Amino acid sequence: MKEMKKALIIGCGAVASVAIHKCCQNSEVFGKICIASRTKSKCDALAAKLAPTTKTEISTAQVNADNVEELIRLIEEQKPDIVMNLALPYQDLNIMDACLATKTHYMDTANYEPEDTAKFEYKWQWAYDKKFKDAGITALLGSGFDPGVTGVFSAYAQKHQFDEINFIDILDCNGGDHGYPFATNFNPEINIREVSANGSYWENGKWVETAPMEIKREYDFEGVGRRDMYLLHHEELESLALNIKGIKRIRFFMTFSQNYLTHLKCLENVGMTSIKPINFEGKQIVPLQFLKAVLPDPASLGPRTKGKTNIGCIFIGKKDGKQKTYYLYNICDHQECYKEVGSQAVAYTTGVPAMIGASMILSGKWNKAGVYNIEQFDPDPFMDALNKWGLPWKENFSPVLVD
Ligand SMILES: NC(=O)c1ccc[n+]([C@@H]2O[C@H](COP(=O)([O-])OP(=O)(O)OC[C@H]3O[C@@H](n4cnc5c(N)ncnc54)[C@H](OP(=O)(O)O)[C@@H]3O)[C@@H](O)[C@H]2O)c1
Repeated sequence: MKEMKKALIIGCGAVASVAIHKCCQNSEVFGKICIASRTKSKCDALAAKLAPTTKTEISTAQVNADNVEELIRLIEEQKPDIVMNLALPYQDLNIMDACLATKTHYMDTANYEPEDTAKFEYKWQWAYDKKFKDAGITALLGSGFDPGVTGVFSAYAQKHQFDEINFIDILDCNGGDHGYPFATNFNPEINIREVSANGSYWENGKWVETAPMEIKREYDFEGVGRRDMYLLHHEELESLALNIKGIKRIRFFMTFSQNYLTHLKCLENVGMTSIKPINFEGKQIVPLQFLKAVLPDPASLGPRTKGKTNIGCIFIGKKDGKQKTYYLYNICDHQECYKEVGSQAVAYTTGVPAMIGASMILSGKWNKAGVYNIEQFDPDPFMDALNKWGLPWKENFSPVLVD
């Protein structure tokens, strides 16, 4: 009989909720899970909903992941084989510290970002590599969709389709409509920090910085139609630029409607997206955190969101001395996701790869000590799992290219 594996899942928000549903569908690998978050009542409610539907044993706990000692105590008590960090990027280093102290595998979906500066970079987490190697444990960084599946797609293209990849364009299209004048489809604070930052792309060995939303293109997405998309800085650019052979340029584009951008500009203009604390009636508040409190909770968008997402990578490179283009992408339907797990597609496309990434480590398919980005592992079992667990991929050998 196979040994029962246990995952400790930190966070119980939009993404975690999908990952937890998926762990419960995959009881063979996830024999036990413990859902731990700041607000335990959310964990209890989800556990009560899922318990009658699954063989996975579910427990819950309260934890403040800003406190390393509390995390260590929880890990020692629960004795998980892996900690799945599905809280916020601010907690990444604390959770990695607790994993080191307890010699427990680690995974996340977003790279570390200090709370007081909207700057995300891998350098802080990469600095843990030797410590993880010495402890004999794995840290899998960025196992969502982007980063995540985009890295797996890149590793798969490199392994099976190209001798050398020269250009990658990552295209992230959300063609969904939630019917609100303005809402973000994942954590508003993280989302707004990401899209209001300067853009950048990697070209010929260096970063080229752009003003926010300076570079705009239009693309006709299968399943969605024509959409405007804008160049953003995105975390997987940093690791793919290092890990993909022969790369000359890598860019990331995300679609936004004019309505979204107009609202965002207005909020920015009045100071509501600022992360600098201000004094309000004798209390320090961060305007962006206040904005988060008044915006719709992304977890509540599920029933209202209609339409599809289409996220993928266009590769240009060489195979057998000839130029080759290749597009790998997934199309996901918001309402189908809602029917299956009660969430919209943005949470679904992140939560499913989170479960798959953890299952790769728990099942021993991905097994090396140290801190790794997802494209540093064999993509094949992950690509199979995407088809099995609800994110089937498609390929196109003559895609329209982005200029
Ligand atoms: N790679 C990708 O494709 C991708 C895409 C989208 C999102 N993401 C990432 O996914 C993560 C989760 O996003 P989300 O939309 O699910 O966010 P969310 O709905 O706001 O959920 C965050 C969860 O973390 C918990 N949490 C926050 N601070 C905590 C702390 N100090 N201690 C313990 N728990 C804490 C929250 O608890 P409370 O309920 O108590 O606040 C909540 O349950 C983020 O890091 C985001 O950047 C990745």
